[in-house]
Amino acid sequence: MQIRPAVDDDLPQILVIHNHAIRESTAIWTDTLATLSERRRWLDQHRTAGQLAIVATDGDEVLGYATYGPWRAKEGYRFTVENSVYVRDDRTGQGLGQALMLALISAARDAGFHVMIAAIEAGNLGSIRLHERLGFVDAGTVRGVGYKFDRWLDLTHMRLELE
Ligand SMILES: CC(C)(COP(=O)(O)OP(=O)(O)OC[C@H]1O[C@@H](n2cnc3c(N)ncnc32)[C@H](O)[C@@H]1OP(=O)(O)O)[C@@H](O)C(=O)NCCC(=O)NCCS
Repeated sequence: MQIRPAVDDDLPQILVIHNHAIRESTAIWTDTLATLSERRRWLDQHRTAGQLAIVATDGDEVLGYATYGPWRAKEGYRFTVENSVYVRDDRTGQGLGQALMLALISAARDAGFHVMIAAIEAGNLGSIRLHERLGFVDAGTVRGVGYKFDRWLDLTHMRLELE
């Protein structure tokens, strides 16, 4: 298994992982499937300063990916990033999420960021456990701010100090 920055050739497999999460889970709060050109714009954005997208691979296979980017837009938030992490459905529970996050956190630290925020659907116990394991602490849940699969969703924030 290798972890490296995402490249254009990874996009078709990233798209499959991303759309699986849209279809099957409350990890991404939309019902609209992404397209390859949307994912290409997403990757281009994550190649600009202050952002990053990495993948975990086994040969030509993309097993998962993780990103960080701005938490909020105004310049006062510039030392804070928000992360995301997705592992291919058939490869969860094998340490890949943790490995991706460790690489992401290390890169964010090296880039001089102060805080990393994870925004997680409150019922996503796997993601909450993963972030806890990495030292993130509960920073509050906002109730009822999302709606998917005919129910209201709560958003739990978790915070990691990087310095
Ligand atoms: C959440 C996710 C990224 C975790 O990645 P993973 O590779 O399965 O996790 P790991 O194998 O690295 O496990 C890391 C830790 O989290 C725990 N964990 C992972 N999934 C879990 C689950 N479903 N329930 C309970 N604990 C879980 C593991 O037990 C491990 O902790 P431990 O070492 O104390 O046992 C992955 O399940 C996933 O992609 N889910 C769908 C998308 C998603 O929800 N992304 C996060 C959006 S905020």
